[in-house]
Amino acid sequence: MSITRLVRPDIRGMQAYDAAEQVDDTVRLNANESPRQCPIGNFRRPLNRYPEVRPQKLQKALAGRFGCAVDELLVTRGSSEAIDLVIRTFCQAGKDSVLVTSPSFSMYRHYARVQGARLIEVRTSPEKDFAIDVDALLDACDDTTRLIFVCSPNNPTGTSLESAELERLLRERGDASAIVVDEAYIEFGDKSSATRLLDRYDNLLVLRTLSKALGFAGARCGAVAGPADVVRVLSAVQAPYALATPVVECVEDVLEADQLALAERAVEATVRERERLRTALADYDFVTKVWPSDANFLLIRVVDAPRVMRQCAAHNVLLRHFGGDLDDCIRISIGSRDENEQLLRALGSLGGASDG
Ligand SMILES: Cc1ncc(COP(=O)(O)O)c(C=O)c1O
Repeated sequence: MSITRLVRPDIRGMQAYDAAEQVDDTVRLNANESPRQCPIGNFRRPLNRYPEVRPQKLQKALAGRFGCAVDELLVTRGSSEAIDLVIRTFCQAGKDSVLVTSPSFSMYRHYARVQGARLIEVRTSPEKDFAIDVDALLDACDDTTRLIFVCSPNNPTGTSLESAELERLLRERGDASAIVVDEAYIEFGDKSSATRLLDRYDNLLVLRTLSKALGFAGARCGAVAGPADVVRVLSAVQAPYALATPVVECVEDVLEADQLALAERAVEATVRERERLRTALADYDFVTKVWPSDANFLLIRVVDAPRVMRQCAAHNVLLRHFGGDLDDCIRISIGSRDENEQLLRALGSLGGASDG
């Protein structure tokens, strides 16, 4: 059975916005656009015209990259928008719940709150390298649990969920919940994307982004992949013309083979630097733990996190300290070799690096 039955009943049959027709080589007097070509920028498409409601060429290119059918993909303004869309589409305010693991990416909680959805949190343990316990997720679900967010690799812990465990979760929940796998960092690990499971599981949604491995955070482009009937509903909820012409064209360009090859080399360099930093960081006396990571960051535990943050800031290096359960931890994004050297110098000024 399709998980469209989990979509909010008040919007289940909703049609997409009926946008003005766009036909090449016609006189377009149907969209209240300006006839004056805007002289700003050097784009292939005229900026005085609305962009495509859903950019087809981009959709096709991204479906190819992410390994799903074109009608199984909706392109979004970053995967952040996809998180918002999914929660708004599936959760009735004051009634339905969203299950998340903790610690994880805070935007799930943020958008659940905006939508008035109840949050169910399942803690993961630093002693078990923050591994997701699928039995704990299953136990925490109740009849209202519409969505389960699985961030893999997880931000900020860098942990991935094993494929067999993800499949167990998909099977056990069946059409009772949609399982949303957020793969923002998947290119930095060695696991294959859950999109390969789309043919087998009707309750799977996969989030992808161009912000990390493709180095395109400024363009705001991501996607949600899932069953075509669910993607149709998400598309009806999304704003028309969601992606601006300059973004569409830049993303088309970054998906060309030569650009993809460059991005892949950059990912390889990041992974090398991550492993180098992992060893180097473990050498400082005040660093008591460096967790393994499948992402482009490392989570470390330190003796005095505020002091480390202050000292790095004084050396012009910004790190991320979250507080709460991670009060003694710091997340470090992997930079270029030079940036990472600057980080090590800043940490070195705190003293306590062992020899060698
Ligand atoms: C796990 C995870 N998902 C999604 C996002 C959102 O990415 P974007 O909206 O740039 O695609 C981030 C950003 O840091 C993230 O860490």
